[in-house]
Amino acid sequence: MNRAKKPSESAPDLSLIASHLWAYARTRALHAGVELGLFDVLADGPKASSAVASAVKAKERGVRMLCDALCALELLTKSKRGYDLTETARVFLVSGSPAYMGPMILLSNLHVQAWEKLADVVRTGKPAQQVDVESSAREFFPKLVSAIFAPSFGASTMARALLGPKTANSIVDVLDVAGGSGAWSLPWAIANPAVRVTLLDFEEVFPVAREYASKFGVADRVSCRPGNLRKVAFGREAFDLVILGHICHSEGAKWSGKLIQKAATALRPGGILLIGEFIPNDERTGPINQMLFGLNMLLNTGDGDVFTMPEYRGWMRDAGLTRIRKLDFGDRGPDIVVGVKPK
Ligand SMILES: C[S@@+](CC[C@H](N)C(=O)[O-])C[C@H]1O[C@@H](n2cnc3c(N)ncnc32)[C@H](O)[C@@H]1O
Repeated sequence: MNRAKKPSESAPDLSLIASHLWAYARTRALHAGVELGLFDVLADGPKASSAVASAVKAKERGVRMLCDALCALELLTKSKRGYDLTETARVFLVSGSPAYMGPMILLSNLHVQAWEKLADVVRTGKPAQQVDVESSAREFFPKLVSAIFAPSFGASTMARALLGPKTANSIVDVLDVAGGSGAWSLPWAIANPAVRVTLLDFEEVFPVAREYASKFGVADRVSCRPGNLRKVAFGREAFDLVILGHICHSEGAKWSGKLIQKAATALRPGGILLIGEFIPNDERTGPINQMLFGLNMLLNTGDGDVFTMPEYRGWMRDAGLTRIRKLDFGDRGPDIVVGVKPK
């Protein structure tokens, strides 16, 4: 096939190298904006750098330079009225917004030490730390799960809407495997008072889950089942929906296949398995965030990785599921796969 060459394949591009070289500075500028509360200060309208500086208790020179850089990063705009939020910043970077990403952005500090060791990890094959080992998991995940609540909660809410009211309303018993904060299952309980959630995880994360469940007024319908998902049984034909939210990537290929098998066994006929993940293209060459997340698993787990649709399809088919598909949210949506247990 005669394929048009992409610019990156035809001409050397120094700006591409520069852009990758300075990528960490983007993260730091975003982090500083959140840390200073700069986006919150702009929530009620545009402001000059002097007004922003006094509101965040910082020097004006630095605030002006940071705000200009955030304009280049398309998070702020600049006009005669001063700096203003873009829509993206308003939705994801203002602390009162339900989709606020601040906790996750601030948690990026936690990853830095592992990423500094990437070459070593590639060379030796030994991860920088192993969050898939039970003792580390029990310490690491309570910190992580509240930070990642907003994107997972949003993704599950979108999935429920996309599946449609007939499917959504047929679901009563939900098993949220490695449920963490309950971010994937709570939207189902909030939307339907008949829904009962069982959250399976290490007990250390339960205080986080209970806090969110209380906040949304559904605590009486969320039960927490402590246990190691590799060891405990999930039950047989007991649930209408089983959720594997962001767990296959840290479990790796062998345990993901087993997890999907156990999840399928736990489903009632007609029940749905929903997998929230980071899914690369079939060639494993993109999208960029999915590929970088794969490296994150190389750094932080023994066998973790990102897996393609053919891999998920294979595991789900082996588990007897049908109607396997990736939900279509367009280019910017989350990666969610569903499959159905035949009646
Ligand atoms: C990345 S978090 C995902 C949490 C939640 N599903 C979400 O997407 O927001 C992974 C979760 O899996 C849990 N987990 C990891 N290994 C586990 C194991 N072997 N048994 C039970 N839970 C485990 C962690 O405690 C954590 O809550």
